[in-house]
Amino acid sequence: MADLFAGLSTSHVPAIGAAIDLGKTREPYWQPVFQGYEFAKRWIDEAKPDVLILVYNDHATAFSQELIPTFALGCAAQFPIADEGWGPRPVPVVEGHPEMAAHLAQSLILEEFDMTIVNTMDVDHGLTVPLSLVYGQRQAWPCKVIPLAVNVIQYPPPTANRCYRLGQAIGRAVASYPEKLRVMVWGTGGMSHQLQGPRVGLINKAFDQRFLDLLIDDPEALTRITPLEFLRESGSEGIELVMWLIMRGALSAKVKTLQRFYHVPASNTAVGHLILECQSPGGRAVQ
Ligand code: DHB
Ligand code: FE
Repeated sequence: MADLFAGLSTSHVPAIGAAIDLGKTREPYWQPVFQGYEFAKRWIDEAKPDVLILVYNDHATAFSQELIPTFALGCAAQFPIADEGWGPRPVPVVEGHPEMAAHLAQSLILEEFDMTIVNTMDVDHGLTVPLSLVYGQRQAWPCKVIPLAVNVIQYPPPTANRCYRLGQAIGRAVASYPEKLRVMVWGTGGMSHQLQGPRVGLINKAFDQRFLDLLIDDPEALTRITPLEFLRESGSEGIELVMWLIMRGALSAKVKTLQRFYHVPASNTAVGHLILECQSPGGRAVQ
């Protein structure tokens, strides 16, 4: 059986990708940001996940106003790197895992989560920046990636509760996958930030730290946060934190915190990063 052994969450700021690609990680502004990922870089080489289910949001890159799936599950064998306006990032193409993705689609849809099956999708900074932060610069990504894109661009976004329940269903789906694979779920985006309007630049450290505390020890409490509360407390783009709830839902009820990092500033965003290890095998196979 596949083993969902840990989860990881991180912000996915595009300027972090540019700092990596342009060799600026040791500059004084960026050094404290990248220092927070040194543990992840060492740990991932030991943990060696075979497959990542990488929950992120597309930023009007693969999707546009023409088509806005709430939950888009990438079922392709490959996902090209998107051109977000200045050429595709110089990172390896993302290799999918069509067999496990098909199993996830089957399991989740029969559990009444209406996933959109996506067979062609370019992936943007929401997916590639976290890979670069954790794996650094490589010739090829050392694992398969199943992208799960969540709509947080066009209102209404899915609720925190719906996202957490989807995560739990992902945990069950992975636990019923017959191949012996080491699987992680990653949640990207957040933490507090606002890129538009009169409150542009908003950061709410108290909200972010409380979110980290509760995500680890009492994630059910976070499922009651409404989209309006995310908007008010964490800025217009803070809603990206619902992706962290999908990650957390997939893990065991009790988790061990292997890494917790929080840093301001990085571009317009409060950067948060967690690595959480499951304390019972198989994610949430038995509820
Ligand atoms: C920034 C953060 C994001 O999450 C994003 O998608 C785009 C920009 C920023 O902080 O600049
Ligand atoms: Fe974003």
